[in-house]
Amino acid sequence: MAYIIEMLDITKDFPGIRANDAVTLQVEKGSIHALLGENGAGKSTLMSILFGLYQPDGGTIRVRGEAVTVHDPNVANALGIGMVHQHFKLVHNFTVTENIVLGLEPTRGPLLDLAMAGSKVAQLSKLYGLDVDPNAKIEDITVGMQQRVEILKMLYRDAEILIFDEPTAVLTPQEIRELMDIMRRLVNEGKTILLITHKLKEIKEVADTCTVLRRGRLIGTVPVADTSEAKMAEMMVGREVNFKVDKGPAKPGDVVLSIKDLCVKNAKGLMGVKNLSLDVREGEILGLCGIDGNGQTELIQALTGLAPIESGTVSIRGTDITKLPVRQRLDRGLGHIPEDRHRHGLILDFRLDENLVIHTYGKPPYSRYGILDFEAIKKNADRLIDEFDVRSGQGAATPARSMSGGNQQKAIVAREIDRSPDAFVVAQPTRGLDVGAIEYIHKRLVAERDKGKAILLASLELDEILDVSDRIAVIYGGEIVGVVDAKNTNENELGLMMSGSVRKAG
Ligand SMILES: Nc1ncnc2c1ncn2[C@@H]1O[C@H](COP(=O)(O)OP(=O)(O)OP(=O)(O)O)[C@@H](O)[C@H]1O
Ligand SMILES: [Mg+2]
Repeated sequence: MAYIIEMLDITKDFPGIRANDAVTLQVEKGSIHALLGENGAGKSTLMSILFGLYQPDGGTIRVRGEAVTVHDPNVANALGIGMVHQHFKLVHNFTVTENIVLGLEPTRGPLLDLAMAGSKVAQLSKLYGLDVDPNAKIEDITVGMQQRVEILKMLYRDAEILIFDEPTAVLTPQEIRELMDIMRRLVNEGKTILLITHKLKEIKEVADTCTVLRRGRLIGTVPVADTSEAKMAEMMVGREVNFKVDKGPAKPGDVVLSIKDLCVKNAKGLMGVKNLSLDVREGEILGLCGIDGNGQTELIQALTGLAPIESGTVSIRGTDITKLPVRQRLDRGLGHIPEDRHRHGLILDFRLDENLVIHTYGKPPYSRYGILDFEAIKKNADRLIDEFDVRSGQGAATPARSMSGGNQQKAIVAREIDRSPDAFVVAQPTRGLDVGAIEYIHKRLVAERDKGKAILLASLELDEILDVSDRIAVIYGGEIVGVVDAKNTNENELGLMMSGSVRKAG
């Protein structure tokens, strides 16, 4: 068997943790090879080693049968290896073409170069059905398009082996379908794809082979066609995973979070949320679903104090919070899991334990008379790390920046759920989490509900909305076009409402 990539017995140590422990990965040319594993299992580390971002502490890498040392990403490029990171590295006020040629040595005059580059970009875009405008500015195109620019960047450099680290985490369902098609076209043209994803459905749909890691170790490599989703989940977590959320019927009480006639402007200065009214009661989870870009981000930012409200009111148990700053809203019983974990969730240069008291460090038991009690802060962190299974090299003292993506997310969710807010605004809570962690977070949200909390859950994952919510509100064009009982609806009906074709009061 001719393998295009072989990573043999790869070991990598970080402070306090062996991220890869003698891992072997062999990839066939022209295949889509998935990499699956719990948060912190070592997937990104292994791919970063292949791409030359880290040097392994042990093991061998062979590319097309030849042993190689990938000193840095330039060596990877020369070997035909490209990588799309989860957080894109594009310059926003540059055009698509300018971004693609960035870092390449110009061979002729810069003007001529750009024109030639532009036509090569257009050709590649056409060949792989990417539909990217070479002259568009990055800031004017969607996240899905930006990802295609990253793909083009690899293709422009003649990459043959394409690494995708959780490419679908930031995409809408429609964009995910399109990306799957693009991946199929890429392998049809002879490319090889390495795909990190937590979504078993996606693995089933496009991958040929799946390698499973757990806690830095190789568990096994299986052919996808002969392996069920349940089996892959079990390999990854080491136990059976319950995909359905166990919950009794909701017992909704008084209105806690009340939104009346809310109007909020979007980034373009237009009305992103229009006269929106919604009540969330104690003891219920109200799901908010819609196609990305229909006002959900503006709504959530307005509720949590991150964006100004044009008109209308927001109140918690009758107290008007419409004009209050973020901190005072939190003091009135509002909680928030933000959708952008790097912008609004964590301070990456701080330690994990510091991040876990970011809203509360000024109060007892974490500080008294203005003096921080590091013992109490550490104790809090140790408890949350244990409860939410947050994995990292140095426990409470780990710098947030060095944690795996999913463990960063778990830390935010742990901090916010633990505050047990009366009115809880939750956005994309399980983005980037493994199936075991998703199961746990859903359980905790339902437990909050059963304590009588009011939860507004915004998610682009329809399965999550359908499984976790009691009622579901659909947002379209900045308006609520329907509120339905979660037990009496389905993906189809929601889809029709999300596209604005059907309205329904409930
Ligand atoms: N630069 C770094 N410095 C220190 N520790 C690191 C660094 N990068 C990763 N780690 C640690 O190595 C382990 C593996 O991390 P990695 O990012 O590879 O996990 P992952 O499988 O990609 O997880 P996720 O699904 O959450 O993205 C984690 O415990 C992480 O804290
Ligand atoms: Mg990762």
